[in-house]
Amino acid sequence: MTKNSIFNIFTIALAICLQNNGALAQSETPESSRLIVAEGWQNVQANCTECHSSLLITQNSGSRTVWESRIRWMQNTQGLKDLDPKVEESILNYLAANYGQKSSSRRAPLNILLMPNNPFRPED
Ligand code: HEC
Repeated sequence: MTKNSIFNIFTIALAICLQNNGALAQSETPESSRLIVAEGWQNVQANCTECHSSLLITQNSGSRTVWESRIRWMQNTQGLKDLDPKVEESILNYLAANYGQKSSSRRAPLNILLMPNNPFRPED
């Protein structure tokens, strides 16, 4: 094998690697957006991930009113442009349905009779 053909094989391998990287970076797959795939997710991907990661969206939750207030806040203070009413409707439906208000995640306190003796509790 000549030096030239080794170089050619290397160049071809490098080109394949670069091509694959490019393809991954360009395609907006659900995996790369991390958004739940449901009706309207493309609108969220297209309008809500320009300034920050979709993680900022998926780690939040709230009722439709809460999501609407977040959008208004971004429009009033963070430079989010006015959205087409149909697109906004679709985004709010998507967010309220897939990242809706969570019920409390704290369990109720245990009954005092089920608790171990507390050595610091004054005698009664
Ligand atoms: C023009 C830029 C921009 C766009 C577009 C944008 N946001 Fe934001 N958003 C921000 C900024 C800036 C913050 C504050 C980031 C921070 O606190 O680090 C933010 C914060 C948030 C937060 C966190 C709010 C909180 O209470 O912590 C959520 C949720 C959010 N955005 C959702 C969305 C959704 C949904 C869309 C699409 C409708 C969207 N963003 C589009 C700029 C934008």
